[in-house]
Amino acid sequence: MLNRSGGPLLAFYGSRGLGKTSLLREAQRQAQAAGFLTAWVTGRDDVSLAPELARWLGEEIRREKAFGDRAKGLLHNLDRVQVELGVPGARVGFEVASSRESAAIEEALEDAGRFARNHDKHGLALFVDEFQEARLGDRRSLLIALQHFDGAPAGCPVAIIAAGLPSMHAAVPEAATFGERTDFIEVGLLTDVAVAEALRLPAKRLDVEWSDDAIGAAIEQAAGYPHRVQLIGDMTWQAARPSQGDLIAAGHVQQAADLVDQRMAGLYRSRLAKLTPEQRRFVDAMAALGDDDVARAEIASRLAVSTEAVSRPRQELVDRGVIEPAGHGRLRFTVPGFARYVRDLNVPE
Ligand SMILES: Nc1ncnc2c1ncn2[C@@H]1O[C@H](COP(=O)(O)OP(=O)(O)O)[C@@H](O)[C@H]1O
Ligand SMILES: [Mg+2]
Repeated sequence: MLNRSGGPLLAFYGSRGLGKTSLLREAQRQAQAAGFLTAWVTGRDDVSLAPELARWLGEEIRREKAFGDRAKGLLHNLDRVQVELGVPGARVGFEVASSRESAAIEEALEDAGRFARNHDKHGLALFVDEFQEARLGDRRSLLIALQHFDGAPAGCPVAIIAAGLPSMHAAVPEAATFGERTDFIEVGLLTDVAVAEALRLPAKRLDVEWSDDAIGAAIEQAAGYPHRVQLIGDMTWQAARPSQGDLIAAGHVQQAADLVDQRMAGLYRSRLAKLTPEQRRFVDAMAALGDDDVARAEIASRLAVSTEAVSRPRQELVDRGVIEPAGHGRLRFTVPGFARYVRDLNVPE
């Protein structure tokens, strides 16, 4: 993904638990190994990204002993950004602060990218997780920094790789019209082969095998959801307590199943707890309609309201990554098993 010379934003999107952060971490490792200076920030709506970005860049640059004294000026600037913008409650008016923060982000990226390019690195690769959460001004500054290098003769020394919820589709162009050129890549559920590999490969390194039946049972339980794969792998391993040369059997997967369900229930619970009453009514109605995708009109009719009346909670739930469009006015929950969990909760005692 890094052999493109800068260019537009590269954005991985998908709902929670699909492995976007893990993917981004792996990409960062690869970028470092391939000779890029890297930095990592996580989008936040309560503070500017500028000080965090400056801190990360400063640490990375100090770690590169080869830069030596040549990095002095750049480090000085980055330290200043942290001091001036990183102090909570600094008495700067909101407007002033945000334009200074924007300038700081653009400058930090451009200076660090150029410096890296001129000092034995390919350039700077910035990883932005939860992009949709970042403040509008910060999102704009990130895109502007990329835009500044557009058409640069030597190629762009800055690449930005982002990850976030599907609402990134709106969060990017909202920040800058040229954001429309972003390369969006969907991160979806895992295929059966990917689930099998995720379980088999780490075990193999410890000389433990999964039987075909065990893998079959795990694939069925996981329903392609990475977080669930992680739990199945962990809980099954604890049930089997394998030593070198052992075989994990389907029985171990079954033994672990209850614990996996309990842990998944924790995830469902925390998602439900964050919903507004209006969103919760929508979710209850949708869950009652089954595990497959559900027509929006059916949800409205179950709530005895018009289709328009459900458009707000629908959009909010999509933005939060709880549900996602499934084509033709239909919707589905993003986490397998969620509908059943909600139905079980709603069964009258
Ligand atoms: N390719 C994968 N195969 C198996 N498990 C994965 C994979 N990618 C991520 N996971 C696991 O899924 C969970 C969610 O991953 P995370 O990267 O935090 O997702 P997201 O950022 O999309 O919410 C973690 O427990 C992670 O270890
Ligand atoms: Mg994440």
